[in-house]
Amino acid sequence: MSPSLTVSRIAAQQGSVLRELRTASLREAPYAFGETLADALLVDPASFDDTAAQHAHSPRLSTFLLYTEGHPCGLVHAYIEDSDDARAFVNALWVAPAVRHLRGGELLVNVASQWLAEQGVSEVHAWIAEENRTAMRFYERLGFGPTGDRRAMPANEEEAEALYVCHMQVNRDA
Ligand SMILES: CC(C)(COP(=O)(O)OP(=O)(O)OC[C@H]1O[C@@H](n2cnc3c(N)ncnc32)[C@H](O)[C@@H]1OP(=O)(O)O)[C@@H](O)C(=O)NCCC(=O)NCCS
Repeated sequence: MSPSLTVSRIAAQQGSVLRELRTASLREAPYAFGETLADALLVDPASFDDTAAQHAHSPRLSTFLLYTEGHPCGLVHAYIEDSDDARAFVNALWVAPAVRHLRGGELLVNVASQWLAEQGVSEVHAWIAEENRTAMRFYERLGFGPTGDRRAMPANEEEAEALYVCHMQVNRDA
């Protein structure tokens, strides 16, 4: 039987859960992210407490956690840039290998995108490493497409990442 998967917004006291999931994701999928495991391990663990507290309540920044049978097994960040065009992003998406292909990633991105839409955005962006074909196919299946923008990966300047965007459906009757 497939495990049941649920997603909830991070709670203020879940800094240690955030640190555990983030370091697990950087250890397991270093090719996918703009930060290295070494970077994350250098960060004061208390700063994950600050991040969790902020992401639990901020209208611009959030983290959503995936659970299987009550155990944390994935995450995604969602944020709105603090700039004039206020672009919205999902990033740091990761699902533990044991629960992949069960639509946990889809649930995380959909819940994060829904939350961003509730904050008033109509487009959600994601930077995807060009070598990460799995993530490209995953995001394309969810309705994301390439914008044509690309840049060097922050953690590895020899690799490039591409900017994808999804235009959210606006429910004008709501
Ligand atoms: C990308 C990721 C989050 C997908 O999580 P998931 O829970 O398996 O995703 P879902 O079950 O919702 O969707 C899976 C779909 O994504 C695509 N996909 C996922 N893994 C794939 C793989 N190994 N090869 C090809 N396509 C794949 C397929 O479209 C797949 O559909 P299918 O299961 O019907 O074949 C997960 O593979 C992961 O954490 N990867 C490592 C970190 C990463 O790349 N993060 C993205 C950074 S931009």
